[in-house]
Amino acid sequence: MKSYAVIAFAAVVASALAGSCIEEREEAQKRVDAGMLGVFVPECEDSGEWKALQCHASTGMCRCVHPTGENLKNSSRVLETCVCIVHRDRQMKKGLLGAAIPACEESGYYKKVQCHEARCSCADPTSGELRGESRHISELSQLEC
Ligand SMILES: *[C@@H]1O[C@H](CO)[C@@H](O)[C@H](O)[C@H]1NC(C)=O
Repeated sequence: MKSYAVIAFAAVVASALAGSCIEEREEAQKRVDAGMLGVFVPECEDSGEWKALQCHASTGMCRCVHPTGENLKNSSRVLETCVCIVHRDRQMKKGLLGAAIPACEESGYYKKVQCHEARCSCADPTSGELRGESRHISELSQLEC
């Protein structure tokens, strides 16, 4: 009975934390104000959703999360942006045949060569926008991106 109550309580806390960036941010700020070191303070959108890129100030490690706070990409020292990772996740979830799924660098930016259905093009690392002519994948070496 007792352990059931503890589990139920833990579940409520976990769902509240995962759901609200603002609340978690306020809690973290209290710990910072109390002098605790190494506290992770989440970044929230004005809407209250989680920002995609979440960095830990003291370790310099960043990760990507969904707007609900759930993990999208694990912490990494080289992650700088979630722009490609969020786009890739969205395209994969669509599950549409033929949907272009962007290739991402470990930094979170777009790879400078993007291939889709055996055609490859140069891409802008920040926007993912394709530019220039496309080449068949067998002629990949002729692309100068
Ligand atoms: C994060 O890392 C854990 C443990 O290595 C792994 O099980 C999990 O799938 C990873 N999550 C993501 C979103 O990559």
